[in-house]
Amino acid sequence: MRAVLVKEFGSFTNCEIAELPTPQPGSGQVVIKAGAAGLNFPDLLVISGAYQILPPLPFIPGKEVAGTVMALGAGVTSLKVGDRVLANVENGAYAEEAVANAADCHRLPDSMDFATAAALGLVYQTAYLSLIDRAGYQRGETVLVTGATGAVGLATVQLARAMGATVLAGVATASKADAVRAAGAHHIIDLAAPDLRDSLREQVFALTGKHGADVLIDPVGGDIFDAALRAMAWCGRAVVVGFAAGRIPTIKANYLLVKNIAVSGLQWSDYRERVPQRVAEVQQDIFRLQQEGHFQPHIMRTLPLEGFKEGLATIQDRRVIGKIILKLD
Ligand SMILES: NC(=O)c1ccc[n+]([C@@H]2O[C@H](COP(=O)([O-])OP(=O)(O)OC[C@H]3O[C@@H](n4cnc5c(N)ncnc54)[C@H](OP(=O)(O)O)[C@@H]3O)[C@@H](O)[C@H]2O)c1
Repeated sequence: MRAVLVKEFGSFTNCEIAELPTPQPGSGQVVIKAGAAGLNFPDLLVISGAYQILPPLPFIPGKEVAGTVMALGAGVTSLKVGDRVLANVENGAYAEEAVANAADCHRLPDSMDFATAAALGLVYQTAYLSLIDRAGYQRGETVLVTGATGAVGLATVQLARAMGATVLAGVATASKADAVRAAGAHHIIDLAAPDLRDSLREQVFALTGKHGADVLIDPVGGDIFDAALRAMAWCGRAVVVGFAAGRIPTIKANYLLVKNIAVSGLQWSDYRERVPQRVAEVQQDIFRLQQEGHFQPHIMRTLPLEGFKEGLATIQDRRVIGKIILKLD
């Protein structure tokens, strides 16, 4: 089978496709014949060696794959050969065949194609867990999402809207705003406005009658996080999801006290490792919401395996809106 192979940490442009033997499932694992895999921003971090969890070299990158179960390891009773699943993996998804823990496989609705399934995985789980498990979002609250054009941000916009929120979507690249509105944002917050520290709060307060944002979901960090924290409502809850802008912000604790706000973090892979049953529930709820027609994932491009560099470059160069998918069947 063919797979993308990382032989040394560095630029993804150095990675090549290799012919490898069919993987064997370990105990509690399955092998999946891939239909589609999602490209994700963290893949860039893993390939470059900057991610918090790094595999030994050489390795196959990629954290989500949808396809058909083709082999079962010892002790697997929850799945059978032929089942159609979406699987979360630490690495190994940029391949025609992938190994996954059975506990991290989510059965697909019958009518769902593999590209849609792969697009509804990691970033929707991240958005859902941030909103519900970390922020404790309550129906009807106002949710401010930064980086709303990106994969996590757009998923958050869609899920928050489907769950009854008023959605304020922070957009730094104005030309992408229409896609964010189409995903369900009620209002666009201009993150490229001059004097963002004041202007972000002014925009949010003007739209909420000075109430502010009950929930902040922030995949961007840097100056945008600093400014967004000033736009929180009384007893607001902010969730740190990522640092796409590059700078990890620092929070002064007195600010949390004075504003009566809470800040938490979300690390998706910990949920997968520690509470796979919760991730399974979350994934089935995401599938349910999509099947009920609340949203469709915004798949910007679908590429063959050979297109992985083009896809990763699109993410790295900030040209992406939503998801890029590798079609593998
Ligand atoms: N905590 C977790 O478990 C978890 C899970 C998944 C992802 N993440 C992290 O979340 C972040 C976003 O992931 P993603 O998949 O959404 O990535 P993505 O699809 O590439 O989107 C990145 C977003 O960040 C914005 N952005 C990037 N640089 C910026 C800057 N300098 N100023 C303002 N906005 C900027 C982009 O806006 P433009 O469209 O204007 O470029 C875009 O909205 C990454 O740091 C990723 O590692 C964390």
